[in-house]
Amino acid sequence: MIRARIIGTGSYVPEKVLTNRDLEKILDTSDEWITTRTGIRERHVAADHENTSDLATKAAESALEMAGVNAAELDYIVVGTITGDYPWPATACIVQSNLGAENAGAFDVSAACSGFIYALATAADRIQAGNCKKALVIGAEILTRVVDWKDRNTCVLFGDGAGAVILEAQEGERGILSTHLHADGSQLKLLYQPGFGTRMVPSPENLAKGEHFLQMQGNEVFKVAVRSLSDVAQTALDANGMTVEDVNLLIPHQANIRILEATAKRLNMKDDQVYINVDRFGNTSGATIPIALDEANRSGRINDGDILLFNAFGGGFTWASALLRW
Ligand SMILES: CC(C)(COP(=O)(O)OP(=O)(O)OC[C@H]1O[C@@H](n2cnc3c(N)ncnc32)[C@H](O)[C@@H]1OP(=O)(O)O)[C@@H](O)C(=O)NCCC(=O)NCCS
Repeated sequence: MIRARIIGTGSYVPEKVLTNRDLEKILDTSDEWITTRTGIRERHVAADHENTSDLATKAAESALEMAGVNAAELDYIVVGTITGDYPWPATACIVQSNLGAENAGAFDVSAACSGFIYALATAADRIQAGNCKKALVIGAEILTRVVDWKDRNTCVLFGDGAGAVILEAQEGERGILSTHLHADGSQLKLLYQPGFGTRMVPSPENLAKGEHFLQMQGNEVFKVAVRSLSDVAQTALDANGMTVEDVNLLIPHQANIRILEATAKRLNMKDDQVYINVDRFGNTSGATIPIALDEANRSGRINDGDILLFNAFGGGFTWASALLRW
């Protein structure tokens, strides 16, 4: 059986670090509040000259190098992002050009914080269908450009970064075993960016009201996120006839330490089964899972044959999981 196997990982975060102490100087907030409510201590912020495609390209170059793959060998590039360089065309096309991936089709997936798993699923399915040999999947975001830096409810939570994987078609037991994707658009206004698409065009009034900034009802999102993240992880295990004990490492979307802990508790997972780095990067939306995966991989936290589980939840709402044998 042909499976999509991850043969290289990479990540990139901007140099500039913004700590909670830095935020205390510009907002009515405290390191203590942010740390206890979210687990976040610092986040990385893109420099003015950096674009989402730049972060994505650096993460991709690092993944290609680890995989020993030349960009011209790629058949397919898909980027999970909600903060692309332009409304259109796709950021994936800019990455394709930056890398010189002349043989690759390229497009973006918009599924907010679930974007990386959605992107991974499309690439894995294409590989399994025999239509693609090598794919580059990226999660990349510059969230700090769509948050309102005067809104302490939201701006403390987010950061910038990118992570990437190279997938290769391989025979055997290793690779992606399943993906599950879900959505519920009926509650989209609990977490969304009202402007500026075709529903609300830019105007001086809309700009003055801050309609171009991310808006969130944090309490409501919290409850749905915990339930959805644990349900979709369990769905992945059930679909593969596995239990929580079979999982060597859960790499969850890094939104908030309380969401991660509540989800792990609902799943009966032990602390050492869950990878956490939200303290250093905050919520980088579609980039959290590939950044965490790259860290775990490069630090020797993952061994051949390990069972890895990814789960994510985000605006849409969307939620998703992927189960793989490393
Ligand atoms: C955002 C979140 C941390 C807020 O925590 P909470 O315990 O729900 O806090 P509340 O929203 O009830 O606010 C409690 C108080 O803290 C205040 N507060 C909010 N942000 C603050 C900040 N950065 N610093 C200090 N105080 C803050 C509120 O104004 C409120 O004050 P009030 O009681 O005087 O009105 C929490 O709801 C959460 O994690 N939600 C999920 C968000 C998320 O991860 N979204 C992305 C999913 S992909």
